[in-house]
Amino acid sequence: MEVHTHIKTPFLFVVLLATLALGSTRVGFYNTTCSQAETIVRSVVESAVRLNQTFAPGILQMFFHDCFVSGCDASILLDGSSSEKTAGPNSLLKGFEVIDAAKSMLETACPGVVSCADILALAARDSVVQVGGTGWAVPTGRRDGLVSLASEVTFPGPKDSVDDQIVKFVKKGLNTKDLVILVGGHTIGRASCTTFHHRLYNYSGTNVPDPAIDHTFLRHLRTMCPEGGDGARRVALDTDSVNNFDNSFYGNLRDGRGVLESDSLLWSDPRTQKIVQGFIGGSRRHQSKFNKMFGRSMVKMSKIELKTGKQGEIRRVCNKIN
Ligand SMILES: *[C@@H]1O[C@H](CO)[C@@H](O)[C@H](O)[C@H]1NC(C)=O
Ligand SMILES: *[C@@H]1O[C@H](CO)[C@@H](O)[C@H](O)[C@H]1NC(C)=O
Ligand SMILES: *[C@@H]1O[C@H](CO)[C@@H](O)[C@H](O)[C@H]1NC(C)=O
Repeated sequence: MEVHTHIKTPFLFVVLLATLALGSTRVGFYNTTCSQAETIVRSVVESAVRLNQTFAPGILQMFFHDCFVSGCDASILLDGSSSEKTAGPNSLLKGFEVIDAAKSMLETACPGVVSCADILALAARDSVVQVGGTGWAVPTGRRDGLVSLASEVTFPGPKDSVDDQIVKFVKKGLNTKDLVILVGGHTIGRASCTTFHHRLYNYSGTNVPDPAIDHTFLRHLRTMCPEGGDGARRVALDTDSVNNFDNSFYGNLRDGRGVLESDSLLWSDPRTQKIVQGFIGGSRRHQSKFNKMFGRSMVKMSKIELKTGKQGEIRRVCNKIN
């Protein structure tokens, strides 16, 4: 854009300020309007995760699913016969009641101020911290969206090639590094047998299992997911450490202990393998590098197709528009 020098400085300054206020989020957006906002969200998430640890991956995944469809605007939380919630990949999301509980406390403390989109962004960070992550500063100031359509739901899926995964991330302004880092959130995730069963017995019609799976690990997965067994059974994506937010997930990928095909492929493909490699290691330095990079990519993801300023609204309850 061209800046015309004949415009007087004060005017330009005002225009710039207005643009900043409209177009971006910032850490501490609620400092003056609802100073307890972040504390309230944290305490609600803390009690929920203490009650059941699976709320942590649930909320983290919910945020990811929100951001990938029409931006991080809490569209995932809206009820409706054809809202995003009703789409297949969202059927197992967990933690809606946690976000609702936080919203209800915030409406008592500061009515009409804190968006559901921000509550979800904060809750995702707090969930990670509750299971051992170090966390990150969450820019806030998002507005809640008015539209939620199941037909717009397209996430990277458990059978996606690396190319497909990269393309889906690039469409959202995220690069290959963000992909590998954000998939690292699987360190606390679980998936049902149906999402990877095709690797265990007759992979792509070859009559043998996926050769990328380690032999001992294959026996473990077959025990968890027998042929003709219960496809809904959930299996940890970071074997031996699913309750800890840590970097061991990447070591498992190297060792043929990736559960999802999409995860396992990140080790087979040289483009992503070198990034995975950079996160493997038992030292504190490796753990803190993963935590730091994860926070950075989460903040980047949390700015996808932002609604700020006068766009959207601040919902009174998170499951319906005002
Ligand atoms: C809000 O307060 C925090 C902590 O004191 C500070 O880091 C941040 O810059 C403040 N943000 C705004 C927008 O005032
Ligand atoms: C936690 O939630 C999961 C999934 O909803 C459930 O399967 C599990 O039994 C719960 N655990 C406890 C300790 O309540
Ligand atoms: C494996 O899959 C292929 C292709 O779908 C099929 O022709 C073959 O019969 C299957 N093998 C077994 C043992 O089920």
